Amino acid sequence: MTPPRWTELMEEVLIGIKNSALTLILESEDLKALEEVKLQFLGRSGRLTIAIKNIAKLPIQKRPEVGQLANEVKKTIEETITEQELKLKNLESNKRKEQIDITAPGIKPRIGHLHPMTQVLYDVVDVFKGIGFQPCDGPEIETDYYNFEVLNIPKNHPARDTQQTLYLDTRNTKITPGEIILRTQTSAMQGRVMEKANPPLRVIVPGKNFRYEQVDASHGFEFWQVEGFFVDTHVRLTDLFGTIDYVLKKLMGEKTKLKFATTNFPFVEPGVDTYMECSVCKRKGCSFCKQSGWSEIMPAGMIHPNVLKAVGYDPNKFSGFAFAIGLSRLVTLRYQMDDLRLLTNPDLRILEQF
Ligand code: DAH
Repeated sequence: MTPPRWTELMEEVLIGIKNSALTLILESEDLKALEEVKLQFLGRSGRLTIAIKNIAKLPIQKRPEVGQLANEVKKTIEETITEQELKLKNLESNKRKEQIDITAPGIKPRIGHLHPMTQVLYDVVDVFKGIGFQPCDGPEIETDYYNFEVLNIPKNHPARDTQQTLYLDTRNTKITPGEIILRTQTSAMQGRVMEKANPPLRVIVPGKNFRYEQVDASHGFEFWQVEGFFVDTHVRLTDLFGTIDYVLKKLMGEKTKLKFATTNFPFVEPGVDTYMECSVCKRKGCSFCKQSGWSEIMPAGMIHPNVLKAVGYDPNKFSGFAFAIGLSRLVTLRYQMDDLRLLTNPDLRILEQF
């Protein structure tokens, strides 16, 4: 007959198995060690498996009680193993993440590029610098005086009608109404520079202008120009032609076809308009060149004696020429875009093409 001690002994054995199993499980540092502990207790000849088999040797009335304890021990061991397994798996995957393979190819950052306007602007500045022109900057908020008056466009001059002006609201200030405007032309810098410096002068002024314009494929209410002027003794019209020809061929290619025509701007005499063969249609006629085959690109002329006088130069001693490149138009001609508005469209599918 089984002595009654056996039952208590079995219970002690089961508790002992539980304690040592839990200790070993929690101490296991990797999945392999954990698997070994699992085998050691739950495997076919594992300590718990054998103990459970021995329950059959107990007197029948004691078996349920010990059996229940054995089940609880088994459940606790299994649960602890599952938790530890999860913990170790997480640890291992974190470790893997931390490892850096220095031989792996890097992730290339996506680097943008200069906007087509800026690319062409830099080219224009480079070409002019090469022939001694100095770039200079000026205010976009301008006075009526520099934008018009000094350029031989007094108040009520009809030429003002060609440049629909945006005025700043000067109510509640001491400024005369209509005196502060958004500049309509970078020519406004002629007076500012000439007042401060003496000839010889070779200056370009890249910048933005603003006009109250109906926006369409070839007009914007905001547009870029590169104004330029050259003042010295004995500057002649042929110097102007030579300069324009040189610059535009440098920028647009030696085969660029140009033609000149007379025009009228109050601050030049004579005024010259430069036309370039329309690169969109190659003179066949399209909407961009208004079916003319040519694009107006660079108005220019010999600086009017009244302007020279207004800035304090002696027109009998000095002469000069001035010009303005329509930069936005130059860009559309270079890249054969048929709509100026593409230049202010932020869609990357457009910008990535340049
Ligand atoms: N400022 C003129 C405009 O925006 C363009 C212009 C014409 C500039 C003749 C000049 C010039 O320097 O000589 O309409």
